[in-house]
Amino acid sequence: MTDLTGRRALVTGGAQGIGRAIAERLTAAGARVVLADVNEAGVRATAEKLGEGTVGVGCDVTSMSEVTAAVAAAVEAIGGLDLVVNNAGIEIAKPLTELGDDEFMRVIDVNAGGAFRVIKAAVPALAAAGGGTVVNMASIAGTRGGPLLGAYCASKAAVIRLTETAAIELRQANIRVNAVCPGIVSTEMADRLVAPINGISPIPFDDLIAMKQGRQGEPAEIADLVAFLSSDRARFVNGAHYVVDGGLTASLF
Ligand SMILES: NC(=O)c1ccc[n+]([C@@H]2O[C@H](COP(=O)([O-])OP(=O)(O)OC[C@H]3O[C@@H](n4cnc5c(N)ncnc54)[C@H](O)[C@@H]3O)[C@@H](O)[C@H]2O)c1
Repeated sequence: MTDLTGRRALVTGGAQGIGRAIAERLTAAGARVVLADVNEAGVRATAEKLGEGTVGVGCDVTSMSEVTAAVAAAVEAIGGLDLVVNNAGIEIAKPLTELGDDEFMRVIDVNAGGAFRVIKAAVPALAAAGGGTVVNMASIAGTRGGPLLGAYCASKAAVIRLTETAAIELRQANIRVNAVCPGIVSTEMADRLVAPINGISPIPFDDLIAMKQGRQGEPAEIADLVAFLSSDRARFVNGAHYVVDGGLTASLF
């Protein structure tokens, strides 16, 4: 059992989906958690439902000032920071030829820019705690291309490279940085992909997922890996990215 007793955690994109499951898992392991999300009402409601002292703060990860304020609010609320999970993310599912310049840049800004800003803002607090961990939510889309997901794939590849650079630069401060690469996981994001994928695939979405990864992943199955990487059991794991996809990317066919 992963033990995070007394650890103080900030999780972005925590109002729902995988972020919410991560908050539940970290809390169950003994951590105190602050959730930050652009959906302020949603994240406050989620924090209240989770209980255990969980705090919800509004924060758009595309704004450096909002990220700085969220980190300060977390430090104030739980007395410091030991763990950061960069989970906030968006997708836009369109072919590259139909994708607007603004749409491409928006996906990069939230997914890769958001992780960069949170790392930058959180490092002083993590260093002040004597070190800590960062887990970035990448995706198997960061390891391969995929139809309709050009901006998303580019953004998640950037998250993986950012993870590696941060791991190297922050090692002296005793801060480990790793990434997680889920396959399709049962959340609203996956639900939003059903219609666009059905529009281009000869195989219905559900059958495609069953064929490629057996079933959809559960948010808790991603949260388990995040908790492990955030714990001392992973003390020699640094700069790595872990695929959690039921075998999707392992297959030749
Ligand atoms: N669901 C999947 O199949 C899947 C697969 C691989 C990776 N991921 C990644 O997992 C993470 C969580 O995805 P999910 O499936 O739970 O999606 P979701 O859409 O259910 O939740 C995403 C959360 O991020 C928040 N968010 C969006 N933009 C934000 C911003 N600018 N600032 C702060 N918060 C913001 C949303 O309000 C929401 O609460 C994302 O990074 C996503 O790319 C998801």
